[in-house]
Amino acid sequence: MIFLADFTTFTPQNIAMSYPYQIKSFEEYKKAYQKSVEDPESFWSEIAENFVWKKKWNSVLNWNFEEPWVQWFEGAKLNITENCIDRHLKELGEKPAIIWEPNNPEERTRIVTYNRLHKRVCQVAQMLKNNGVKKGDRVCIYMGMVPELAYAILGCARIGAIHSVIFGGFSAQSIADRLYDANAEYIITCDGAYRGEKIIPLKSVIDDALIGNRSIKRVIVYTRTRTAVSMLKGRDVWWEDEMQYAEEQVEKNGIVSFPAETMDAEDPLFILYTSGSTGKPKGVVHSTAGYMLWTNYTFINVFQYRQGQVHFCTADIGWITGHSYIVYGPLSAGGTSVMFEGVPAWPNAGRFWEIVDKYKVNILYTAPTAIRSLMGFGLEPLQGKDLSSLEVLGTVGEPINEEAWHWYDEHIGKKKCPIVDTWWQTETGGCLISNMAGVTPAKPSWATLPMPGVQPILVDEKGNEVTEKDEHGLLKGNLCIKAPWPAILRTTYGDHERCRTNYFSAYKDLYFTGDGALKDENGFYRITGRVDDVLNVSGHRIGTAEVENAINMHAGVVESAVVGYPHDIKGQGIYAFVIDNNTHGDEELTRKDILQTVSRIIGPIAKPDKIQFVKGLPKTRSGKIMRRILRKIAEGDLSNIGDTSTLLDPTVVDDIKNGKL
Ligand code: WTA
Repeated sequence: MIFLADFTTFTPQNIAMSYPYQIKSFEEYKKAYQKSVEDPESFWSEIAENFVWKKKWNSVLNWNFEEPWVQWFEGAKLNITENCIDRHLKELGEKPAIIWEPNNPEERTRIVTYNRLHKRVCQVAQMLKNNGVKKGDRVCIYMGMVPELAYAILGCARIGAIHSVIFGGFSAQSIADRLYDANAEYIITCDGAYRGEKIIPLKSVIDDALIGNRSIKRVIVYTRTRTAVSMLKGRDVWWEDEMQYAEEQVEKNGIVSFPAETMDAEDPLFILYTSGSTGKPKGVVHSTAGYMLWTNYTFINVFQYRQGQVHFCTADIGWITGHSYIVYGPLSAGGTSVMFEGVPAWPNAGRFWEIVDKYKVNILYTAPTAIRSLMGFGLEPLQGKDLSSLEVLGTVGEPINEEAWHWYDEHIGKKKCPIVDTWWQTETGGCLISNMAGVTPAKPSWATLPMPGVQPILVDEKGNEVTEKDEHGLLKGNLCIKAPWPAILRTTYGDHERCRTNYFSAYKDLYFTGDGALKDENGFYRITGRVDDVLNVSGHRIGTAEVENAINMHAGVVESAVVGYPHDIKGQGIYAFVIDNNTHGDEELTRKDILQTVSRIIGPIAKPDKIQFVKGLPKTRSGKIMRRILRKIAEGDLSNIGDTSTLLDPTVVDDIKNGKL
């Protein structure tokens, strides 16, 4: 329930949204699931009736995974911001849409009501228009976690521009690559961003990314940290000035309006870059109607959201989790979403618990890596924090180990809160496999059952469905999905063939997730992790090829191979084996130089945890690196290396083993 004195106007009586498609029991889940598979068209069109459309659809679903080509609600017209904002104004206008908690707990909180959000989004839309942005243009957003980031995203959606948010931990080089790939002409950024005691100089990173760039027409800069920045005449403008000017245009006689652009159901809503097994990140493209339906449907069902509840997703909006479960899911449901600018352990390790207490958070959604790192501080940070408002807990981003699951259950949920383990990906737009809080059964470290509309299948290397159980009675295979759900990615920006080869070509007529999974006798799924060359470091996806490319750019490096190894807090750590012909002999310094290079090329998030210098890498006669061997060495499993007879030079393995860090 809402708590703050400013919101005394909010009472349960003015609850407007009800969710007729909210599943309330396991029986209902089974029925919904069956219907979604047998008759997806009527299943999804009934749900779609609960949204605001400018024009209804001609057909519900057309698809073909060979191309791939997927169309949901063909012919329908809508604007997602009318569904996330305008339709709530009458009944929920004074209800908080966003509660913003600043990095520094001493600083003033900001509560953004739906009315205020509406006004700000109209202003941003007007500001973008004033600066020449048109429907279909790509707008790159590189900001900290401030409410203005949410306004920027929704402002783009209001005028039909495609937003592409870049996480604040990426380097200038990464930004430059993404700007080029998306062919973006507009940027919205901040002078700087607070993260714990650090200030990240965002605008200056953007300036570095723009050296030599001639295609960017406008950079809009929001002042957050008052960090000195350079402002280029004719290109860079201040958010505050532009917004003030726009305010005069959108507000007449106390009435705020900016017409929401009419979008096709299949018009792209945003691009979000993510790592794959090749060196170059892919721009995953999500469409408007399908993504809206899916984030709303999964938000309401997985978390069992009720009107008036406060939802706190701790992710950064630079990742898909923030897009779907801070912005679009909660807002489309007329919910209240907490947005936290800071980091979990600053100024102390009780920060999350303080926020839960302060805002009487009902739903807490975070990553296993955050739970594990907070576990490390013991129970002291929990003292004096009232967590009794919590009703539902969630995890996302990586498999959760049982120890972390039980700690979360016992010390945070006090054994009263169902935990939802939500498995999904940037490409899937929202949760695909997860229990529904208190409605479908939970099983520690299992994501459990698929959402209605999701048809998983486990296949072997050849693409045949796995039917043989292992010694524990489990099926084990590569996780694929048989048919499209509304928020499946539509393409990878500018390169549809890449989308096809990455996701739809490994196995005929299946979407391949890149994950391995187990399935038990109840049909529950447990995700075991990536089966491709993608690492999951602190819940962030990083491609090994990307890190290798960055390391190889360092002068002196001849070749490198990167693998993951188990890491107590991060889940996976990055282990790099490097052949370096540097003659100056100072290994420690070279290590630091390499880290600096990786930071420059990708960003600090991709820095290897360990770098081992080696003379050679284990290669087959055809020149392929045997990563399996390197993985064993990185894991410390030295006695179990396996067959090395196919290697060109088996002696390199002993050298590497002897030099293991
Ligand atoms: C992993 C994050 C186990 C998985 C939403 C997937 C998980 C990758 C879970 C996607 C989970 C995500 N259990 N593994 N509950 N959730 N993953 O694109 O390997 O950043 O393929 O999306 O994270 O990461 P992404």
